[in-house]
Amino acid sequence: METILAKALGQEVGQMATTEKQLLLSRLLARLAHEIRNPLSSLDIHVQLLEEDLAQIPASEREKLTDRLSIIHGELHRLENIVKQFLRLAGPSALDLEPVDIAKTVEHVCELLRPEAAARQIEIAVRMTGGLPKIRADSVQLTQALLNILINALQAVERQGRVTVQVDRSEAERVLAIQVTDTGPGVPSERLTTIFEPYFTTKSDGSGLGLWIAQQIAAAHGGEIQAGNAPGGGAVFRLRLPFRESESSRG
Ligand SMILES: Nc1ncnc2c1ncn2[C@@H]1O[C@H](COP(=O)(O)OP(=O)(O)O)[C@@H](O)[C@H]1O
Ligand SMILES: [Mg+2]
Repeated sequence: METILAKALGQEVGQMATTEKQLLLSRLLARLAHEIRNPLSSLDIHVQLLEEDLAQIPASEREKLTDRLSIIHGELHRLENIVKQFLRLAGPSALDLEPVDIAKTVEHVCELLRPEAAARQIEIAVRMTGGLPKIRADSVQLTQALLNILINALQAVERQGRVTVQVDRSEAERVLAIQVTDTGPGVPSERLTTIFEPYFTTKSDGSGLGLWIAQQIAAAHGGEIQAGNAPGGGAVFRLRLPFRESESSRG
């Protein structure tokens, strides 16, 4: 499966794993930077409070302490700047935004997977209406998110079945919804949240990172992924992406 997919993408399997790893690493580092920023700003406030306290002390005793505090203050600022630069590099700005035709992206992902699906007698059906808005998005990352969801669907169906991809626009909410339904066993309801956690997998050779990465990508676009089950069994994954008024011009 991975091999066929990698071939379809024109990449070596090893390289593909590297891309996933890099994406994971940059997201983990962005998270780390975020986590460090809060205690840093709290330290900064406390140093400022200490400086105010120092002003009450007799000048003779104050001098040495003031020097030390200003060193701490300076170093704190240096750390804050490092974190800021880092967030700029690894944060949401890492998205390469351009107008993306979602219909084309969905078709592209389905075409990549159809040979593998056909070999297992799985039909990939696409349902969408015309006139979908272009959205400002990172097409490479969106492709990755959709691939992760669709590969899971094919793996869940195993053989003989159907994966349906439906794209809808909700004018009221200004959201594009891409819904992937499969005829596999579905997700036990108590696991509907857990499956998005990094490294959670029920597969012997799974990484447990696919849905987590897809969710991170959705979130970076201001969207989200919801998991559920279809009334007749089978899992439903719904990727919701917001679009702005200016993006809703058709074509
Ligand atoms: N379409 C699906 N049907 C049933 N279970 C699913 C589906 N997609 C994902 N899952 C569950 O979510 C888990 C995590 O998925 P993922 O993060 O892609 O990692 P991996 O595919 O490596 O296990 C899977 O191991 C599986 O248990
Ligand atoms: Mg997966």
